[in-house]
Amino acid sequence: MPKVTPAEIRAMKARGQKIAALTAYDFPMARLLDQVGIPFILVGDSLAMVVLGFPDTTHVTMGDMEHHVRAVARAKPNSLIIGDLPFRSYETVPKAVENARRLITAGAEGVKAEGGREIIEQLRAITAAGIPFCGHLGMLPQHVIEEGGYRIKGKKESEYQALLADADALVETGAFAIVLELVTPPVAREISKRIPVPTIGIGAGPDCDGQILVTPDLLGMLPWFSLKHVRPKLNAAEQMRAVIQEWKKAVCPTC
Ligand code: KIV
Repeated sequence: MPKVTPAEIRAMKARGQKIAALTAYDFPMARLLDQVGIPFILVGDSLAMVVLGFPDTTHVTMGDMEHHVRAVARAKPNSLIIGDLPFRSYETVPKAVENARRLITAGAEGVKAEGGREIIEQLRAITAAGIPFCGHLGMLPQHVIEEGGYRIKGKKESEYQALLADADALVETGAFAIVLELVTPPVAREISKRIPVPTIGIGAGPDCDGQILVTPDLLGMLPWFSLKHVRPKLNAAEQMRAVIQEWKKAVCPTC
């Protein structure tokens, strides 16, 4: 796979080629995803929950994100590396640009932030600074505390209208792709047909232009989280426990 750029991600939609995206937070996973030819690696702020042990993504700092973006970038993948701007790191336009630049300096090749029209000035400034931007609409995990849970979006008429307007605004302002999280499948399909940039769905049905998963969820590394939108393809936690148990027994048969 030649080096993937944001333009190539857009071109994949134009060619009708589906986009397989996954998260990575460290060097070995970035290397594995690259070897498999995953074109889009997200260093997601899901880092909070799947690596750092926090209850939600609002706890991740810029320092955490930079540290993990650097680790992923050291794998020098041909995959495009996108870094998540964490909670409250893009509250104002100057903050958004400064923090997007920090992720780029750490090795990201673009940034993602959650929201639509309410962050459009931040998006405008980030793209004006020459930094590729991926949007994120639907369920916004950085708002989980104020929303009181992870709810599917797009069922109510007001949510449907807001999603369409937000998707249009992100595209007009220069987003090269949009993650759609927990958006009802018919609405995700409509947005995917409506906009020229790829939609990358998570729990948003099969008709997005691509799909993204949190890699540890796909691999069954976190059996304590049960998610409706992903059935693990491997029981990695169980297999690791068994190997560690066997090794422990070999070291200490009476333990
Ligand atoms: O942080 C993350 O892993 C994400 C995915 C849910 C898309 O934003």
